[in-house]
Amino acid sequence: MKTSVAIIGAGPAGLLLAHLLASQGIDVVVVERRSRAHCESRVRAGVLEQGTVDTLTAAGVGERMRAEGHVHHGIELRFGGEGHRIAFDELVPGRAITVYGQQEVVKDLVAANLAAGVDLRFEVEDVAIGGLDTDPWLAFGGERLDCDFIAGCDGFHGISREAVAPHLAVFEKTYPFAWLGILADVAPSAPELVYAASERGFSLHSMRSDTVSRFYLQVPPETAPEDWSEDAIWAELKARHETVPGFTLATGPITAVDVAAMRSFVAEPMRFGRLLLAGDAAHIVPPTGAKGLNLAVADVRVLARALGEHYRTGADGLLDAYSATCLKRVWRAQHFSWWMTTLLHRFDGADAYDRRLQRSHLEFTARSKAQATALAENYVGLPYED
Ligand code: FAD
Ligand code: DHB
Repeated sequence: MKTSVAIIGAGPAGLLLAHLLASQGIDVVVVERRSRAHCESRVRAGVLEQGTVDTLTAAGVGERMRAEGHVHHGIELRFGGEGHRIAFDELVPGRAITVYGQQEVVKDLVAANLAAGVDLRFEVEDVAIGGLDTDPWLAFGGERLDCDFIAGCDGFHGISREAVAPHLAVFEKTYPFAWLGILADVAPSAPELVYAASERGFSLHSMRSDTVSRFYLQVPPETAPEDWSEDAIWAELKARHETVPGFTLATGPITAVDVAAMRSFVAEPMRFGRLLLAGDAAHIVPPTGAKGLNLAVADVRVLARALGEHYRTGADGLLDAYSATCLKRVWRAQHFSWWMTTLLHRFDGADAYDRRLQRSHLEFTARSKAQATALAENYVGLPYED
């Protein structure tokens, strides 16, 4: 069997790439280890940058996102008994975020690909890859798929990056805490996301709809979801959020609990021969800045354009620049995500001096228009360079 671009992974990166290439008439096959139902129900990111929204809209997959997603023009930073609004509408006029679940983006992309006749294969186990220098191929289930390029969109634990590990430089940082993610059938208690820094640790109040809320709690890194009872979760969320006068956190049935590790990671370069890495396969950020999904979309935009140029004109200028183009944005997001993480979390090893510095930094972010603007322009997403 033969195709032009073989894509490993049906997460946001692989699915959007398949859609953008198929729209340009390029032949693709997507192979995914998990089932379609699993991919479409995995609760993860929720915040889409302006550029991500614009990209999905331009690709023709933004209809439900525009109808069901919620546009937010600010977030709240809560600390020291007060809430401080970071007002995107004043600081970065015309740019906003859209709250729309990653699994909804995935559903929309699966539907669009299937409608366009893209060869999407779920539950494909034991994918092997080779010939990366000149004649790449994929093997699975006794089949061999020859191709011109392989797009490694298989996330942080995939096989693509591993296959070229000796050729990559890796930069990484792990954090001494994790996030417990909670989904609950209860109306949000605040109109916008609340990033709450407290003595007890960080907590985030986000949402999915008028009737579903999403929360995160900073927890020790070895935490398992079963360690937390419903009562303990609500007690801790209340303790970390009910710190400003008049705020009460509404509670309701919890429908899902998961744990996410906190890690910063970049593998360079994002290309080896005919293998191109995109999204979490190449880089990870701690979720505090809400950048992971957005970076995956940004990579794929660049890659779809570069492969489009290759097949249309035979020129490889954009493809040769792929890694360097993406890494600029990746490192900006790395810095922003590290910065938000350090600003808002409790670090157990921190001494009194470190804690005073952190508080001063938070106060300056809330008070200084320049500092708040820096947060806002990174959070809503910097303009694409292309
Ligand atoms: P993935 O979504 O990981 O997709 C990779 C796919 O490849 C998966 O479907 C996997 O099953 C498949 N795969 C893996 N190995 C193989 C194999 N060997 N063969 C075949 N298929 C394989 N980002 C944001 O932008 N905003 C947020 O608000 C945000 N919040 C987050 C909250 C949490 C709790 C978590 C965990 C993440 C969050 N992120 C957020 C990050 C975001 O979810 C990821 O960055 C995003 O999923 C990356 O997409 P991807 O397509 O690169 O990788
Ligand atoms: C969500 C996740 C994040 O990591 C974040 O910074 C904001 C919102 C969410 O899942 O809603």
